[in-house]
Amino acid sequence: MIKTENDIFILAIESSCDDTSGAVLHNRAVLSNVVANQEIHKQYGGVVPELAGRDHQKNILPVVDAALKKANVDLTQINAIAFTRGPGLLGSLLVGASFAKSLAQSLGVPLIEVNHMQAHVLAHFIEGKNGDPGFPFLCLTVSGGHTQLIKVNDHLSFELLGETLDDAAGEAYDKAAKILGLPYPGGPLIDKFAKEGNPQAYKFPISNMPGFSYSFSGIKTAFLYFIQNETKKDPGFVEKNKADICASYQLSITEMLLKKLRQAAQQQGIKTLALAGGVSANSLLRKSLTDMEKEGFRVFIPPFEYCTDNAAMIGIAGYFKYLKKDFADLNITPTAQYSL
Ligand code: KG4
Ligand code: ZN
Repeated sequence: MIKTENDIFILAIESSCDDTSGAVLHNRAVLSNVVANQEIHKQYGGVVPELAGRDHQKNILPVVDAALKKANVDLTQINAIAFTRGPGLLGSLLVGASFAKSLAQSLGVPLIEVNHMQAHVLAHFIEGKNGDPGFPFLCLTVSGGHTQLIKVNDHLSFELLGETLDDAAGEAYDKAAKILGLPYPGGPLIDKFAKEGNPQAYKFPISNMPGFSYSFSGIKTAFLYFIQNETKKDPGFVEKNKADICASYQLSITEMLLKKLRQAAQQQGIKTLALAGGVSANSLLRKSLTDMEKEGFRVFIPPFEYCTDNAAMIGIAGYFKYLKKDFADLNITPTAQYSL
């Protein structure tokens, strides 16, 4: 292909938690998006930061190499390197940041730092079949580390309306799954078992926090006590009622998430709603939000591969920053806390 100045190729790197990912984008189109999941954490019931950092070191070179090969793009064609600066695990972020900096320096191309939470939202602008949400829109970003309700005014203009004051929605799923004896990450398994269950079988407390804040620690504790009490009476309780337990818990989490989204939509007078982050893979959340189309809302949910952590979303964020010539210095450092 003959490259013109309108052809922007971004190589993107994501390493904020336990997935090492590399992607190549041509403008807003994803040419490759390679993700290496770290299986090692399964046996510990959660991500072990030191092990995550070590695995990123092992994975980053083969992952980036595979992304370039799959895209059929060589390094001389790359216009800029985008990487996740934060938020995330510092040891993990350092691996991606150091790699991105060295590569940008050796190629003599600009370096672009990306906020992981902005990138989750911007996944909606990856070229695809569904079209883009128009501005402004509300995005509910739900992942293992974050739960945020965001008003998106433009590609690079975000207003945080509310977030969780304690656990994230994904954590609420993963911790409940652990109580049920399921492996990490338990969210997808709760979703799977819930499909066969009665969501009205048990009631769990729905938190009511001020404004658009969320809290999931109450429901998690209530869930723990509920399982402990029932198991005392009948040691086989979980096995016999797993589907109903999962369905009831999933309904409570989904109601909590959508209640605030609906209130925010009313308060802001916004009719375009979007989901982002790993928990947007949840089938009940997807269905319940999609059902809101009947009420006149426009609903956007990214394809599954761009919901969970991936470098394509870092690439699209990098593309919008590239257009604004928003480049980072080579002495930039990653940061575990990074507000939107
Ligand atoms: O965005 P993500 O891949 O990583 C973080 O940045 O945290 O989100 C991972 C989270 C995990 O907590 C996982 O259990 C949850 O997303 N998750 C789900 C489902 N698929 C992934 N939770 C509920 N239902 C699902 N189907
Ligand atoms: Zn994430």
